[in-house]
Amino acid sequence: MKADFSILGIESTCDETSASLLRGGREIVTNVIYSQIEEHKKYHGVVPELASRAHAAKIASVIAQAVQDYPIDYVAFASGPGLPGGLMVGRVAAETLANFKKVPILGVNHLEGHIFACDLEGTQVKGRLHFPLVALVVSGGHTELWYVRNYGDYKVLGRTRDDAAGEAFDKVAKLLGLAYPGGPQVSKQALSGRRDAIHFPRPLLPGTWEFSFSGIKTAVSYYLRDHQKFSIPDVCASFEQAMVDTLVTKTLQAAKKCKVKHIAVGGGVAANTLLREQMQAAAIQQGIETHFVDRKLSSDNAAMIALVAYQKLAYAERTGAKLATHININPNMKVHNWRLKE
Ligand code: KG4
Ligand code: ZN
Repeated sequence: MKADFSILGIESTCDETSASLLRGGREIVTNVIYSQIEEHKKYHGVVPELASRAHAAKIASVIAQAVQDYPIDYVAFASGPGLPGGLMVGRVAAETLANFKKVPILGVNHLEGHIFACDLEGTQVKGRLHFPLVALVVSGGHTELWYVRNYGDYKVLGRTRDDAAGEAFDKVAKLLGLAYPGGPQVSKQALSGRRDAIHFPRPLLPGTWEFSFSGIKTAVSYYLRDHQKFSIPDVCASFEQAMVDTLVTKTLQAAKKCKVKHIAVGGGVAANTLLREQMQAAAIQQGIETHFVDRKLSSDNAAMIALVAYQKLAYAERTGAKLATHININPNMKVHNWRLKE
């Protein structure tokens, strides 16, 4: 294996079709993202069947734009967790390309991608993460807290029991008649609202590292049902504050318990300004540094998938460890530790 090997990453787990070329583990040469938002907008959420069809329609041209005439040494794709139809399209595309180019193929975990994305700055891999750390993955499909000892060495502390944080934003936006995706719309409305106008619950589930957001969403729906007149900005601001308080409190409790000095936050909801500001401020109080993913790379993209593959391959090269290829798709994939005890 050459030290400056190039990896073509593919991402198709939810509603973005993306392909990215990562060179030498340092440079994102291309990162082409086709977002299906327009297709799902009128349903206020991702419709799996439409998502599969859109992936199938777009993946060939997205890959062609990402590869151009560059040489490729590996193909990597997100093999789970995600929607089955999208995963299937990604696998077929990845395997076809790998066979055609006669290069090896590697499946990677989408959620590892969201965490590793915190290592990227623009088009460069900066290696900003310091271990051990506590990672919060907050997206439309997932909300999880991980203790991360190193790349490939994780302990999942807890995940959501019901809705993901992004899903709660999307559902509240739908209740209020705001457009999909709901997160940015709710945040925009919240700017002119009062954060203490309405008290929505903060489900902290003491004694666990789990989350539960369906209660906040239900509290919003009851509030709307019981009030003939209400202020959309006040509802948004109060809901956003309840979400952020819950995420910040639980993440900092986990960081304290695990005695780490670093936190990483990735996934679509990591773009939220209030979350970024309040997590940062609360962490500084505890002497903890927070690493947020760049806003442009917070949503699903293939650069983060190629980066996970790079870390795995570089590790295997350094240690001689044999990696499992993980090309069988798994919609409910749990992360596995690929770094052996050294
Ligand atoms: O990571 P992502 O692109 O897709 C998944 O893997 O799920 O996350 C999309 C989610 C959506 O639910 C969207 O509403 C939410 O991220 N989101 C936000 C913001 N921007 C996107 N939530 C809160 N505040 C934002 N600024
Ligand atoms: Zn995602």
